[in-house]
Amino acid sequence: MEKQLEELQRTFLEDLESIRDPEQVEQARIAYLGRKGRLTTILRQMGSLSPEERPRIGALANSIKAKMEQALAEVSARIASRQSVQGIDVTLPGRVLRRGSVHVINQVMAEIEDIFRDLGFQVASGPEVEDDYHNFEALNIPENHPARDMQDTFYFGPGVLLRTHTSPVQIRVMESQGLPVRIIAPGKVYRCDFDITHSPMFHQVEGLWVEEGITFAHLKGVLYEFAHRCFGPEVPLRFRSSFFPFTEPSAEVDMGCIICRGAGCRVCGNTGWLEILGCGMVDPEVYRFVGIDPHVVTGFAFGMGVERIAMIKYGIDDIRLFYDGDLRFLLQFA
Ligand code: DAH
Repeated sequence: MEKQLEELQRTFLEDLESIRDPEQVEQARIAYLGRKGRLTTILRQMGSLSPEERPRIGALANSIKAKMEQALAEVSARIASRQSVQGIDVTLPGRVLRRGSVHVINQVMAEIEDIFRDLGFQVASGPEVEDDYHNFEALNIPENHPARDMQDTFYFGPGVLLRTHTSPVQIRVMESQGLPVRIIAPGKVYRCDFDITHSPMFHQVEGLWVEEGITFAHLKGVLYEFAHRCFGPEVPLRFRSSFFPFTEPSAEVDMGCIICRGAGCRVCGNTGWLEILGCGMVDPEVYRFVGIDPHVVTGFAFGMGVERIAMIKYGIDDIRLFYDGDLRFLLQFA
């Protein structure tokens, strides 16, 4: 009987190992200590023991019973504490962590950068809080000149403003870097404008190539290459003469509408064309501000709105969608 009791204790300890929840605790208690349990069954045989043996075995049985009860109580307590750590139910399933992704505007900007990097352009940057001189004056937009009305500006105070375009980076690069210059300048720009095609903050990519012998043909070649890589090799471009204070001659570039393929639709206003950027040959007046001799070098510049390129590329009709933070919109580009 002593052997039986020892064996019982051993299997009990084994069973204890696999107990994970309160229900299993109760099952073990019934199996070992219940009215028809294994310990009770053994104790029923006490009558068959000799009177000398009875007290010893009885004491042994009682101590084993007490140990089992204590062990079950401890396991119970451990399970309960695991289930509520300071009021937190750690058995609840975890929250799924969503992986973030690059914003669609940054994706398009990176794509534009890649194309121009392949064409030998370096990426340059400048401050978003700009001074009047770099944003306007040196780009041949004098104070009190009506050309300033083209861009509704946020001012911090006299002479300090949020840059209205990335063109001031042209000036900064020509001031600080020797010739030749072949850069693009991607970044944020700011204007006091807000409707379905204008946002007070948006992104532009500026381009500038200044070197001996650069002509309008180089400008066209670079822009065709860009459009074909960005929108497909078939897409036609047209150059419409235009005006910018910092380029002469200047042009606006239209691309054949990629929605209707030139037939005319709502997106292109039935013209078959979509305007994608402004460009031109750097005005000799600009070189004067940065100490470059326009008789020695020539160059071209261009500037495009990244949101506009993204809207055309993905058929998005409201610029505000980019900044509302609506995951149903953003996840389409994840
Ligand atoms: N800076 C102009 C704007 O924001 C865009 C632009 C037009 C840039 C022609 C240029 C350019 O470099 O040549 O409206």
